[in-house]
Order: sequence, then C-alpha cells, then structure tokens
Amino acid sequence: TWTPGNIIEDQVAAIRAQVGDKQVICGLSGGVDSAVAAALVQRAIGDQLTCVFVDHGLLRAGEAEQVEKDFVAATGARLKVVDAAEVFLGHLAGVTDPEQKRKIIGREFIRAFEGAARELDAERHVEFLVQGTLYPDVVESGGGTGTANIKSHHNVGGLPDDLQFALIEPLRTLFKDEVRALGAELGLPEEMVQRHPFPGPGLAIRIIGAVDRERLDLLRAADLIAREELTASGLDRDVWQFPVVLLADVRSVGVQGDGRTYGHPVVLRPVSSEDAMTADWSRLPYDVIAKISTRITNEVREVNRVVLDVTSKPPGTIEWE
Ligand code: XMP
Repeated sequence: TWTPGNIIEDQVAAIRAQVGDKQVICGLSGGVDSAVAAALVQRAIGDQLTCVFVDHGLLRAGEAEQVEKDFVAATGARLKVVDAAEVFLGHLAGVTDPEQKRKIIGREFIRAFEGAARELDAERHVEFLVQGTLYPDVVESGGGTGTANIKSHHNVGGLPDDLQFALIEPLRTLFKDEVRALGAELGLPEEMVQRHPFPGPGLAIRIIGAVDRERLDLLRAADLIAREELTASGLDRDVWQFPVVLLADVRSVGVQGDGRTYGHPVVLRPVSSEDAMTADWSRLPYDVIAKISTRITNEVREVNRVVLDVTSKPPGTIEWE
C-alpha cells in the first residue's frame, strides 16, 4: 500500500544504490518539488548532497528565508546560496516584453547555477544532479528525461558539455498531492509543502512594465497581504493560485487621507484549476476581497486602487504576462 513512509524507504534505498559514494548537486527554487526531492536525497545520502539556491531577487516576501533558514533547519542539508538579485535586476532594467523577461531570467539562472556547480565540482567532483520531475512532467514531455517546457527556465539541461551530470529524479512516478504528503513526512515546513504553484520568473512577470527594486517591494507588500488574508479565511486549498499583479505603468487618481493621490492599481487574480491548463476565477467571498483591498490601499503606499480579475482561462491566461 502507498504510504509516504513506504515511498521514502524505497526511494532512499534506490538513491543510495544509484549514488554510491559519489557527490550530488541539487538546485532549489523555493518550490515544493525541488525541496521535496532535495530532502529525500538528503535523507538518503546526507552530506554527499549539496543544494544550490540561486536567489534571483524575484521571489515573494519570506520565500528566500524559507529556503535559507527553514529548509536547512528541517533537513540539515548543506546549502550554497548565490545572491544574484543585483545581476538579474541589472539585466532586467528597462525590459518590458514578457518573453524577453523570461529569456533573460532563464539565461541568467543557468549562468548562476553553472557558476555554483563549477565551484562545487572543483571542490568535490560532482556526478549527479537532482531534479524534482513529477509524473505529469514526464507525461507532458513525452516520457523522456527533463521536465515540462513550462519549467524550462529551471531546467539545467542547458549546462555545457564539460559539466554534465547523471540525473536523479526521485519524484518521477508521483503526483503533486503525493509529493506534498512526502514533504510533510520528511518534516518540511507546512508553508513550503502547501505552497501554491509559482512561476519560475517570479514577480518579474507580475509587474506589467519594467522591473525594478521599488516596484518589486510594492508588489511584495501587496502580495503578502493577499496571501495573509487568504490564509486567514481558511480558503487556501480552494484556490489554485493567487497572482497579485502590479500595473506599474498605469496611474489613476485617488483620494487618501486629505489629499489627492496618483498611484498604481494592483490586480487580484485568484483562480481555481485542476492543472493550470484551464482555470476559472475564484468566487472568493466579498468580505475577503474587501479586507485585502482595504489593507493594500492602507498599507502599501503608491497603491490606491485594487481590482479583481474576473476572466476565466481561456481566454485569459492565469498570469498577466
Ligand atoms: P498561464 O499564465 O499560461 O500559466 O495560464 C499556467 C501556469 O504556468 C505558470 N507559468 C509559469 N511557470 N515559468 C514557470 O515556471 C513561466 O515562465 C511561467 N509562466 C506561467 C503559471 O503560474 C501557471 O501556474
């Protein structure tokens, strides 16, 4: 019978057999899949694993800390952090086209990961790379190795020839809910295990317009409020994803306190979905929406308007970019 405990036992044995006494590297994204895959490999081979977290500065409030502190505390994994925010923001400066943003982020991600992998490989020869490939990814990509295209920026298939690793994919037969159960059993923090899907390019594709530090801070503050209030309402599991989008190039007139303001709108985009291929806008209770709206306009300077996206997918996509 399927229990998280059985799966862990089987996978630990399989990973030990595959790896022997060799060294292993794993990239962490802040997401569920890479965290659970890493925790599983850590359980199997301990210090032969080194995790690498490329912090591109585009994650939501608290997420980098979750990887750097909570994940490490829960697993005891050795972690190398690459603080690449400055580099990413430099390359993204002035870029407004969504595909261009993705291209830059994908390229810089691989570059940063490659740098860290090279360093580690020089210290201790590395032979294996862990990937958090799930069963639906395997099916979608035609059964080969590598993950679905949508995740391509996080794939490190783009590594150069002299830096090729054999793959360890301990989640290849599992579905998302099984991976979550495994993560909980492995002692990962609840917020990490239950995290909604989040795009690899992060908040960069939720700022409509060019990305800079100030805009990221605004969006982070608004996003955190939406997440807090959704959690407080007990509706986390009814929502597939809840993008908050900053219309950075749009201003509208408002009145806050005694004065006229000319600030930015944010869009709330809660959606319900089974697999992200189609989605419907979530019918969140009006009082939850109202609370989020009031808090955002009170607490986030520069934002004076909150709007709700009531478009299904199709025709709208989940993200705005
Ligand atoms: P859309 O916006 O196309 O999104 O309805 C479908 C799902 O994919 C996520 N998404 C991405 N994930 N890199 C990712 O890793 C991306 O470039 C990307 N774009 C969209 C989106 O959050 C949703 O879950």
